[in-house]
Amino acid sequence: MNYEDRITAADLSGHEEELAEVSLRPKRLSDYIGQKKVTENLKVFIEAAKYRKESLDHVLFYGPPGLGKTTLAGIIAEELNVELRITSGPAIERAGDLAAILTNLNEGDVLFIDEIHRLNRSVEEVLYSAMEDYALDIIIGKGPSARSIRLDLSKFTLIGATTRAGSLSAPLRDRFGVICKFEMYETDELSEIIRRSAGILNVEVDEASLLEMARRSRGTPRVANRLLKRVRDFSQVKGSGTIDIDITQRTLDSLGIDRLGLEHLDREILRLIIERFKGGPVGIDTIAAAIGEERVTIEDVYEPYLIQAGLLHRTQKGRMVSEAAYHHLGIAHTQGEQISL
Ligand SMILES: Nc1ncnc2c1ncn2[C@@H]1O[C@H](COP(=O)(O)OP(=O)(O)O)[C@@H](O)[C@H]1O
Ligand SMILES: [Mg+2]
Repeated sequence: MNYEDRITAADLSGHEEELAEVSLRPKRLSDYIGQKKVTENLKVFIEAAKYRKESLDHVLFYGPPGLGKTTLAGIIAEELNVELRITSGPAIERAGDLAAILTNLNEGDVLFIDEIHRLNRSVEEVLYSAMEDYALDIIIGKGPSARSIRLDLSKFTLIGATTRAGSLSAPLRDRFGVICKFEMYETDELSEIIRRSAGILNVEVDEASLLEMARRSRGTPRVANRLLKRVRDFSQVKGSGTIDIDITQRTLDSLGIDRLGLEHLDREILRLIIERFKGGPVGIDTIAAAIGEERVTIEDVYEPYLIQAGLLHRTQKGRMVSEAAYHHLGIAHTQGEQISL
C-alpha cells in the first residue's frame, strides 16, 4: 500500500456522511447551483488552461463548511479531464508524506488539500517550492555529508480549502493565484439543490416543501440535503412516501429546527448572551466555555449563519446579539437604561 492511497482513504473513511454525500455531488460545472461569482471566474480560468494546455493556477477556497468546496474541487478536475487526489492538512503529518503524494502526481493533476490551514510548519515549507517551482528540495544523508538534491515535479494544480482564510500563513496564501470566497446560498438556490437531490434520491417533493426546507437550511447545501433525507425518512415511515408540507413541518419540528433553521445549540448561544451577559458584548472564549463547545467550532460552524441571519454581531469587544435575536427567542428587549417606576 503506498502513502497516498492510505492518506486518501483515511480522509474519507469514518465519515459516513461524506460517503453518502458522494451520490448527491454534482460532477459537472453545469450541475453546480449558485456560487456564481466563484464559478464564472473559474470557468474562464479552466477554459484558458485547457486552451493553452497548461495546468490551472493554484486555487484557494474559503468559507464555512458544507458550501460546496470539496464538490467544486472535484468538478474542476473533471472539467480539466485530469486525476483528482484528495487529502487534508491534518492527514499529512510529515514532509515525507507530502513528498510521496507530490511525486505521484501526473502533469495537470489536481491535488485537493482540505483544511489546509492545519498543515504543520515543516510540511508547509515543502509545499512552497512545490507550488512555485514544481520542485522538491530533499536533504539526503546526515551531518557533514548531508546534501540537498532537487527533485522535479509534474506541473500540478493545488486546490486548498479552509474554513478560515485568516489562519493561513501569508507565504502560503500568496502562492495561490486564484482565491475564492464561498458565500451562503439564497433560498431559491437551495430549493434548486433540494429539487435536484430529490430527483437523484427518487422522491417526490411538492413546491411548498422545497421552499420550507430551503428556508431552514442555514444557507448551506449540506444541511439542505440532510434535511431532505430526514424528511424522506419521516414520509416513508409516517406518511404516504411523497413529501408534502405537512410531513415537512412535522419532521423539522420534531428535529427541533426552528423557522430560521436554528437548532438547539444556536438558540443556546443566543440565550446565553442575552440572559447571562445582557446581550453582550461577550468574548468568544467565555461563550465557548459556558456552552461547552470548542471555540473554533463556534466560530466556524455556528457563528457564520447567526451573523448572516442578522442575529449576532462581531464587535471589537466581543459578540453581541441583535434585537432580532430577542424577537426570535420571544424575549422582551429592553434597550439601554431602564426607567424604573
Ligand atoms: N453548488 C452546489 N450545487 C449542488 N449541490 C451542492 C452544491 N454545493 C454543495 N452541494 C452539496 O452539498 C454537499 C456538501 O458539499 P461539500 O462540497 O462537501 O462542502 P464543503 O467541502 O464546502 O464542506 C455535497 O454533497 C453536495 O451534494
Ligand atoms: Mg469539504
